[in-house]
Amino acid sequence: MTRHLFVTTALPYANGAFHVGHIMEYIQADIWVRFQRMRGNRVHFVCADDAHGAPIMLKAESEGISPEMLVARIAAERPQYLNGFHISFDNWYSTHSPENELLSQDIYRRLEREGLIYRKPVEQFYDSVKGMFLPDRYIKGECPNCGAKDQYGDACEVCSSVYAPTDLKNPYSTISGSAPVLRTSDHYFFKLSDPRCTAFLQDWISRDRLQSQVANKAREWLDGEGDRALGDWDISRDAPYFGIPIPDAPGKYFYVWLDAPVGYLASLKNYFESGRAAAAGEARGFEDFLSAPDTEQIHFIGKDIIYFHTLFWPAMMKFAGAPYRIPDSVHVHGFITVSGEKMSKSRGTGLSPLRYLELSMNAEWLRYYIAAKLNANVEDVDFNPDDFVARVNSDLVGKYVNIASRAANFITRHFEGRLAYAGGTAAMLAESAQAAEAAAASYEAREFGKAIRDVMAIADSINHAFDANQPWLLAKDPGRRAELQDVCSRALYGFKLLTVLLAPVLPDVARRVAREFFGLDRDFAWQDAAVLPESVAPYAHLLTRVDPKQLDALFEPATASTSEPTPAAPAAKASRAAAKSEAPAQAALISIDDFSKVDLRVARIVQAEAVDGAEKLIRLTLDLGGERRTVFAGIKSAYAPESLVNRLTVMVANLAPRKMKFGISEGMVLAASGDGSGLYLLAPDSGAEPGMKIR
Ligand code: 2FM
Ligand code: ZN
Repeated sequence: MTRHLFVTTALPYANGAFHVGHIMEYIQADIWVRFQRMRGNRVHFVCADDAHGAPIMLKAESEGISPEMLVARIAAERPQYLNGFHISFDNWYSTHSPENELLSQDIYRRLEREGLIYRKPVEQFYDSVKGMFLPDRYIKGECPNCGAKDQYGDACEVCSSVYAPTDLKNPYSTISGSAPVLRTSDHYFFKLSDPRCTAFLQDWISRDRLQSQVANKAREWLDGEGDRALGDWDISRDAPYFGIPIPDAPGKYFYVWLDAPVGYLASLKNYFESGRAAAAGEARGFEDFLSAPDTEQIHFIGKDIIYFHTLFWPAMMKFAGAPYRIPDSVHVHGFITVSGEKMSKSRGTGLSPLRYLELSMNAEWLRYYIAAKLNANVEDVDFNPDDFVARVNSDLVGKYVNIASRAANFITRHFEGRLAYAGGTAAMLAESAQAAEAAAASYEAREFGKAIRDVMAIADSINHAFDANQPWLLAKDPGRRAELQDVCSRALYGFKLLTVLLAPVLPDVARRVAREFFGLDRDFAWQDAAVLPESVAPYAHLLTRVDPKQLDALFEPATASTSEPTPAAPAAKASRAAAKSEAPAQAALISIDDFSKVDLRVARIVQAEAVDGAEKLIRLTLDLGGERRTVFAGIKSAYAPESLVNRLTVMVANLAPRKMKFGISEGMVLAASGDGSGLYLLAPDSGAEPGMKIR
């Protein structure tokens, strides 16, 4: 029976390039999806950019562009990664879309009708300079426990104590630097604690649809008592916010995590309504498909977002009612580490996927390596460069590809490409069919590592049989031609079997093998595993070995010639070669493109005056070669204002204007400082003129 699958991966925030954690998730889901398609199941595989929220709004502002422009820029970068790693999404969309607005508001209204939405005042820190409520991550201050400075609003990195932002001493907004004030405003809540919700969720998690670790985690949250009892969910944020307006609530927006998972549906709807689902053979419309009893809705996610996907999301879908459907399954994976080093969510690991592609490293090596290391548990996967080289070179190339090149050479030279099997093939075919079913069970269960181990064991036995028959000796004996043809034909049939079983992982190799080597006019389907081929084309190169030097280059600090958007930390390289001398702590690496985004200019200070009420600030009027700018600089401890007039200095000319208590600052002047108290304004060499670009 054909299954109808709606599969998603987590929507990445649209404020940065993909890191290898994203790529690993897409590869995992893509392997599963390709496997399902090969089995004849119908899959709609979609994703989208998660476009909303304060960080994206503020990042765009700091770049002096609109959030829409930022989101569009990030979206434009996506295809090179997705195509580069052969990720076969049917649609890539955005949560900042009419479909998502419509669906999110519709779901909200339905939840409201169910009596699951209420409003209550919430007291929160407010930045009155910036004019916005502060998300916790934008508040810092002194730890209430140990007094450490510059700690975030949730936990102290020095003494590890956990607290609320309002517990911080001398809190400040990291956006404006000002002291936040407490302010009350009405927020909207989703009543997760409603007995209908908790009863539904208890039942939902007990239905064997989740990995046991995931179900246990969800149960722990559901069963929490006292302080740990399941709270209601604050789903609103006040303007200014980049998000979807809440119906009938002026100035209120959905919290990004409300509309993010709805983005799964928005992407699917967009895919259906653009006609592409129909073109791919889907006869039903979006709503009919979604609400059909035999549709399966499956989400691939990382372990950090289990809470949202096992509590809020199913509850939202349940109480919104048809055509919305309760997720059928959530498949959770661990993180990817590089040589044992954890990655940060925003910076990724030292393994930059773009650099990987730019170095022309084969995407299928990485797909193979990740597949070989993945299982169905919520376990982290470690990328180890030496292990990568070994697995790709000795397994993939040494065991698998070599079968084709060795056996095909004899068939081409002696038999014009024709295959023939002496004796019975029934046993061989039965064995293959069995192997294919075992591999199918592993793929289905996301036990990819097991599938790969089993496939490599088959490759070993094919190589073993081939060598044991010594075809190179048979080739010298004209009386044993039939034997030679049989030995090579069996090896090539084995190669075909392996290719079918590896096709979800190696789609490009499999396509070439099917079409160019075995002469099919289509890609492999799973049943091809147990069909004897009759001829082969001369062997053409399929896959090269990895050169260990490529791994060195991959982990080398990015050079000026690469268009790297993410920093490539040298961590893995350091653990690969014996660690040499300790380098001093350095900021993350950036590319020349990153650097050139900063517009540095020579400026003449034409006026400098102290600012009433600001101990540290000097108000500078700068001449940029005609244009005048006002900049507030915190340099009063080191300079008397009058000593600055007429000096040349260096300014950042394209910093987004910042509203300060004393006026608007239209840039920044550069000064050097160390651990001590000294502060040294930069100055260009003589001859430089105001307005000159620094590069
Ligand atoms: O954690 C994240 O990166 C989120 N952008 C994931 C959202 S998944 C879904 F809910 F959209
Ligand atoms: Zn502390």
